Amino acid sequence: MTAAGTFGYGTEYSHLFDIQRLGAIVCKGTTLEPREGNPQPRLAETASGLLNSIGLQNIGVKALIKEKAPIWASWRVPVIVNIAGETVDDYAQLANELNGVAGISGIEVNISCPNVKAGGAEFGANPESAARVTAAVKSTTSLPILVKLTPNTNDITKIAVAVAEAGADAISLINTVKGMYIDITTRQALLGSRTGGLSGPAIKPIALSMVYEVAGAVELPVIGCGGITTGSDAIEFIMAGASAVQVGTASFANPRAPLDVLEGIEHFMKKEGINNLTDLIGVARQ
Ligand SMILES: Cc1cc2nc3c(=O)[nH]c(=O)nc-3n(C[C@H](O)[C@H](O)[C@H](O)COP(=O)(O)O)c2cc1C
Repeated sequence: MTAAGTFGYGTEYSHLFDIQRLGAIVCKGTTLEPREGNPQPRLAETASGLLNSIGLQNIGVKALIKEKAPIWASWRVPVIVNIAGETVDDYAQLANELNGVAGISGIEVNISCPNVKAGGAEFGANPESAARVTAAVKSTTSLPILVKLTPNTNDITKIAVAVAEAGADAISLINTVKGMYIDITTRQALLGSRTGGLSGPAIKPIALSMVYEVAGAVELPVIGCGGITTGSDAIEFIMAGASAVQVGTASFANPRAPLDVLEGIEHFMKKEGINNLTDLIGVARQ
């Protein structure tokens, strides 16, 4: 799959390679109203990573349903809409609007967003608020729901168990790791919003250990994400217990990265004589 926010609406990439070969496209984070995002600068390159503070710039759910979903409806590859809100009601309303729309195969719930009614703590940093968002989305849609966990919490397995009990169909992880960059010439934070989210190869070991822990704590399918750039990276996540993977930041340097990862997985399977990828899921756990 592609990772939310790193592959636009898929349409931007459809002329670059055969995106229909992918497992799924996860589109940009979507909110009830259109958003312009955070002040510039919003991106900074770091050692083996990328720091971003895009702030969910997006066209809003109504425009997505009107302009993007009809295009997706003609695709073979399923499209999953990543949603973000400031209140539990925002999430429920988004899920309700997306329910039954042709071209939309699932919802990924981004719980790394600040809960404005709880002083701005991330929904996903607390098992109760993570479960409340999950249950609200589940009760308003018949689409499968993936709940995407934040690494910015001290016990990700507790959050995973809470969202599983609240009705998630799958769990994806990880979102970006909170980080910062200071420009020593201006003596100020480089990003317009001061802090941002770190992604790319720098976070891969963190993501891998979290996938390993979460896959051991829940029965649901786990989707691994964080620094995956090659087929070998993807195989590591599968061996840790992931049933699928998402490719994010790698697409910025190489727009074909999701397909390269897929072909890398196929190459590894052929080399090792593996016919069914499920034979590799969680082997590093045994
Ligand atoms: C520019 C950018 C925008 C992102 N936007 C979203 C988003 O809207 N919703 C979301 O759940 N995750 C978002 N993410 C997080 C990615 O989907 C992914 O979880 C994270 O970057 C780790 O994977 P990677 O190292 O392969 O990029 C964004 C990441 C980047 C770099």
